[in-house]
Amino acid sequence: MKTEIAKLLEERHLPEILKMKDGSEVTRENFPERRREMLDILAEYEYGTMPSPIGETTWKEETKFEVCCGKASESRISITFPTPDGESFTFPVNLIVPKTATAENKLPAVVYLAFENKYYYPIEEVIDSGVIVAEVQYQQVSLDAAGTFDKLMDSHYFENGKRNGGDFGKIGMWAYAASRTLDFLLTLDYVDKSRVGVMGPSRLGKTALWAGANDERFTYIFSNDAGCSGDAIERGKIGERFPRIFTVLGYWFCENMKSVSESTDDAEKMPFDQHFLLACCAPRKLQPAPYITAASLDEWADPTSQYLSCAAASPAWELFGGKGFVHPDRLPKAGDRFPEGDLGFHLREGTHWLSRHDWMGFIDFLKK
Ligand code: GCU
Repeated sequence: MKTEIAKLLEERHLPEILKMKDGSEVTRENFPERRREMLDILAEYEYGTMPSPIGETTWKEETKFEVCCGKASESRISITFPTPDGESFTFPVNLIVPKTATAENKLPAVVYLAFENKYYYPIEEVIDSGVIVAEVQYQQVSLDAAGTFDKLMDSHYFENGKRNGGDFGKIGMWAYAASRTLDFLLTLDYVDKSRVGVMGPSRLGKTALWAGANDERFTYIFSNDAGCSGDAIERGKIGERFPRIFTVLGYWFCENMKSVSESTDDAEKMPFDQHFLLACCAPRKLQPAPYITAASLDEWADPTSQYLSCAAASPAWELFGGKGFVHPDRLPKAGDRFPEGDLGFHLREGTHWLSRHDWMGFIDFLKK
C-alpha cells in the first residue's frame, strides 16, 4: 500500500535522483558522478556555472574587540581572493569567537549569510552554545539589484557588466563568497574542521543550499524559509513559482533559466526539480545536514513543497545505508520538528523570518 507522502510525491511527477542521465541505476560507487550530473543540471538551468578558484584566498584581521561582557571577541576580517581578470576582490566578514575556543578546545563554526544589521540574531545564546560565527553581509559581496553586474565582485567576472547565458547570477556569487569564507575559517586552529557549516535565510537560504551542494567541505547546511528555487519542489508548488521569480528576480539566476521557467510543470522540459539541490548535499559527515526550516504561514515559500522536497531527496542518503528523512506519514503541522534522520526539518509557527526559534533549532542540532 502506498503511503500518504508517497502518493503526494507521485502527483508531483518528479525526475529521479537515483538514475543517471543515460538511464542507468545509481549506486553508492557512482553516486559522486550522479551528484556531478545534478550539480551540472542545476548550474546549466538555474544558478549558472560556479567558477573554480584560481588561486589562494588570503585574509587580514582589521580590528578586534571584546563583546558580550568579554564572553567573545568580534573581529573585522578582510577576505581577498584572486579573480579571472588578473585582479582580486576583497570583502569584509564579521567574526565572533567565543572565548572558550582554543587549539585544544576546537569549536564548530558557521558561515552566516546575512542581510544587513537590521535583522536580529540571538548572538549571546549562540556564543554561550560555543559556536563561531563568520557573518557575511551579502550585499558587500554583490549588490542585490538588477543591472549591477559591473559593481563589486561582479565587475571582475563580467566585462562591461554583460553576462552570457550560463554565467552565474547573484546567488552563485554569494555562494562563491561563502566558500571563500570557509577557506578562511579552515586556516584557524580553534575551528573544528569536522563541523563547519553554511546558513542563511530566504534568498540566502537558497544561497546556503547552493553553496553547500557545491562545496563538500561544508559538513552541514542550515536553510531557513528558502522556498521557490531553494528547498521547495517547483512542480505543483503554491505561492511563488519559477515564472514569477525569473521575471522579477532573474538576476539571482543564470539567463538560461528562462528556457525552463515557463514550463516547470512539464516534466519533459524541466530536467530537474529542487530535490536535486538537497540530494547534492548527500552524504555529509553531520546529520541532519541539511537542516531545513520552514514557517507555517509562509505560503509564498510553501512549507508543503519544502517538506516534500526533503522526502524526495531522502533516497540519496538511504543509498548509503542512512535513515534518510525521518518523518511521519503525513504533512507537517506547525511546531513539528524532525531532526532524527540524515536531513532535518522543522515547521515553526508564524510567518517568513529567521527567528530565535529557528536559530535554537539549529544550535540544538550542532550540540548533538
Ligand atoms: C522575495 C522572493 C523570495 C525570497 C524572499 C527573501 O519574497 O520572492 O523568493 O526568498 O524575497 O529573500 O526574503
